[in-house]
Amino acid sequence: MNTYNLCFKQLNIQQIDAIVQCRDSLIESSFLRETFVKPDTDYLEYILLGAGIMIGVFYDNTLLGFASYVTPSKAKTDLTKFITKNKNNIIQFEHGIIAPKWQGNGYLYMLLQHLNKYSLEQNYNAIISTVHPSNFPSLKTAFKIHQSAINLEFYYGNELRFLMYGNILHDKITTQSPDYLSLPYADLKGISDFLNKGYEIYDINPKMRTYLLRRYNENTCKL
Ligand SMILES: CC(C)(COP(=O)(O)OP(=O)(O)OC[C@H]1O[C@@H](n2cnc3c(N)ncnc32)[C@H](O)[C@@H]1OP(=O)(O)O)[C@@H](O)C(=O)NCCC(=O)NCCS
Repeated sequence: MNTYNLCFKQLNIQQIDAIVQCRDSLIESSFLRETFVKPDTDYLEYILLGAGIMIGVFYDNTLLGFASYVTPSKAKTDLTKFITKNKNNIIQFEHGIIAPKWQGNGYLYMLLQHLNKYSLEQNYNAIISTVHPSNFPSLKTAFKIHQSAINLEFYYGNELRFLMYGNILHDKITTQSPDYLSLPYADLKGISDFLNKGYEIYDINPKMRTYLLRRYNENTCKL
């Protein structure tokens, strides 16, 4: 599809029906249930009425997907409560959905770029979120906006998630050093141990089915 016809716009409460339709277009599966907690309509309305900002991607007048950031103190679960240091100026990525027909084009990444621009204008300089370890499109997108996984825990009751954090303009370190290592997707126990030892996950290698880890740098928040 020609990306010149795409349009990114802030969504408002008048567009709730299209937003709900987009959410409900996600195909129910055990994978979706395990990796994603669908936002209920009340919460979407609450965000649209001022708890955060929601941006949609449109093709002509069709809403293809949306993503939202919320002020952590107004979120259902304030993820900054798990952070002890450097927690000011953090905005929370709450959820991103691309309708199945339009997935595979990197639209979530584009939405987050727009949300990041808005966040910087509002003096936020870091993002916090959670991602299921097997939600690779979401994880890969989080890495692309310079988030790293800094912890693996149960959130929202009993949902296994990486806690993701990153400065909005922080450039990735690409050089290799002895402090870099990779671990198989399946080794969640080993990964959790390294996260507890001060490592963070900064990317994945889909071919090798491994997570790539490095030691924290000084720009990273501490739990
Ligand atoms: C998460 C979601 C919004 C991403 O949609 P999208 O923007 O179309 O994502 P894409 O399919 O373009 O994938 C993004 C990246 O992940 C990569 N990716 C996708 N599947 C992958 C896999 N199985 N393994 C490794 N990488 C994968 C893509 O190659 C792409 O990377 P690239 O930009 O380097 O090419 C969409 O999958 C969705 O709506 N899922 C259901 C709701 C959800 O889980 N939301 C996320 C939690 S907030």
